[in-house]
Amino acid sequence: MNRRLLVLTAAAVGLGAATMAFALPPLEKKDRYKVGFAQMESNNPWRIAETKSFQDTAAACNWDLIATDAAGSAAKQVADVDSMIAQGIDVLFLPPREEKPLIPAVKKARAAGIPTFLVDRSVDPNAAKAGEDFVAFLGSDFIDQGRRVAEWTIENFAGDKGIIVQLEGTTGSSPANDRKKGFDDAIAADPRFEIVASQTGDFARDLGRQVMETLLQAHPDVNIVYAHNDEMAIGAIQALELAGRKPGEDVLVVSIDGTRDALQAIIDGKMGVTVESSPFFGPLACEVMNRYADGEKIEPWVQVQDRIFTQDNAADHIDEAY
Ligand code: AHR
Repeated sequence: MNRRLLVLTAAAVGLGAATMAFALPPLEKKDRYKVGFAQMESNNPWRIAETKSFQDTAAACNWDLIATDAAGSAAKQVADVDSMIAQGIDVLFLPPREEKPLIPAVKKARAAGIPTFLVDRSVDPNAAKAGEDFVAFLGSDFIDQGRRVAEWTIENFAGDKGIIVQLEGTTGSSPANDRKKGFDDAIAADPRFEIVASQTGDFARDLGRQVMETLLQAHPDVNIVYAHNDEMAIGAIQALELAGRKPGEDVLVVSIDGTRDALQAIIDGKMGVTVESSPFFGPLACEVMNRYADGEKIEPWVQVQDRIFTQDNAADHIDEAY
């Protein structure tokens, strides 16, 4: 029996309205699945590695994969999901670019009877919930990532007064919101530190560099840069060097992700720490999807555990980085 028939049958046997409202679309056991992966953009190594992870998993997991690229537009990402629904996908994996604009896509997939898993980023929990509107969120604890960067900074900053510039990720995205909260709350516990500016660089290297150039003019005394991802950290390092500053000596740069360039910057002494945020979601997506097809109840948040990279271990991990 196919999914849509199952939903109709459930209605016919008289399940209550409340039960119907919350029953997630089931996933029929099949030899092959038509799987949608609606990527948000491909302008950085993290996104490219995530898409490749889904592509590499497709053969092993018996997926016919439809992968799209919304090129940095939430509106296009919604349209891409519409198109996948029209093409009859069995399952949707969605990294929502921002927390609110992707809610309609989640709800439309739900209404079409397509089990949806949010990967790496989530949506506004007041508007759409795991276990009701989508099956589960697969991803890191972004608040914890920000907190861990702050704690490392508190332990390792050698100066008397830490003047911090924060480069935020995409405005309205879950990692930008949560990495800011985790860092701000933890750093506030130590009076040595002050965040003098916090501005978006949209998770992009070039914008990170431009924003850092501007902020350096307003705050020439900055001695700590916290970037919400490695791409912006690398952009900030470029801006600092152009301005004659010495990242790693007179400015501590701290960040999140674990890209190859960031690990190299740590090895070169230009960056202090990066807390991992893994883009390799393909194998986890396959495993969770199969558990769901087996009828298992999936935990609302399938949490990914993140490592931390510093001078102590960056060289050991650079070969596996992306
Ligand atoms: O959602 C995860 C974040 O998105 C990564 O930290 C960033 O590099 C990416 O664009």
